[in-house]
Amino acid sequence: MSLSSQPIGIFDSGVGGLTVAHALTQLLPNEQIIYFGDVAHHPYGEKSSAAIQSYAVKICEMLLRQEVKLILIACNSASAVAHDLVREYVGSRAKVIDVINPMIEHLRENFNHQKIGLIATRATVNSGIYHQKIDTLGLGIQLTSLAAPLLVPIIEEGNINHDDFKQILHNYLSHPTLQDIDALLLACTHYPIIKDQISQFYNHKISLIDNSEITAHAVKNLLEYHRLLNPSVLTPQHQFYVSDYTESFVAHARFFFPAALHFEHYPLWD
Ligand code: DGL
Repeated sequence: MSLSSQPIGIFDSGVGGLTVAHALTQLLPNEQIIYFGDVAHHPYGEKSSAAIQSYAVKICEMLLRQEVKLILIACNSASAVAHDLVREYVGSRAKVIDVINPMIEHLRENFNHQKIGLIATRATVNSGIYHQKIDTLGLGIQLTSLAAPLLVPIIEEGNINHDDFKQILHNYLSHPTLQDIDALLLACTHYPIIKDQISQFYNHKISLIDNSEITAHAVKNLLEYHRLLNPSVLTPQHQFYVSDYTESFVAHARFFFPAALHFEHYPLWD
């Protein structure tokens, strides 16, 4: 198999990375993806950096065995604390891309001198990575961030229409930290799944920025640059692996990929 025909490996703690995988396959329909949802360990946002790093390396080991040409860390929490380590571990065996650097580039191009609120997991917020990267650019972007740790477990379980969830979301978005913002950055790949509810809270009046399409375009540019775009026009068969098999994962995967057939429980830690 030529290098350009090899698949793209994508991972997240669960269903969140599907939002990025979906945007990617919309933009690059010839690419085959191998998705790993580390459902056994979600939420990553509540884990230590050391734990997330060890999960990330183990998943990359599995994806490299599948001969992927690129690994996409489709998770802000893992991008925040494990991107450098993953790059080092993967070395020249595959390209590596995260979801945070493409977002910073997008903010640099489009959001100068604006006040942006950010919601994310505790791991992402505590890493301070968005603040560091934005400060380094010196763009005059005013960033305020809030950890919203209750959102991912509820999204992962598929309980987003429950009244309690609406109240929890309302409480987070009403927090003083997020007042008078021009845009809200959804810095967790699970959050596009609740984008409509978030938009409703703001009466559709502020911009919501999420990782999915921005990352997809960054992947396209990277593959183009390295001449790694898949030239095949055959419909690719995507593969989905999970460290714990849940109905919610399969339902989400089928929502984003109605033709998805290949699901496999991959007990990475047995
Ligand atoms: N979707 C991931 C993120 O972007 C992980 C969320 C979690 O497992 O806590 O941060």
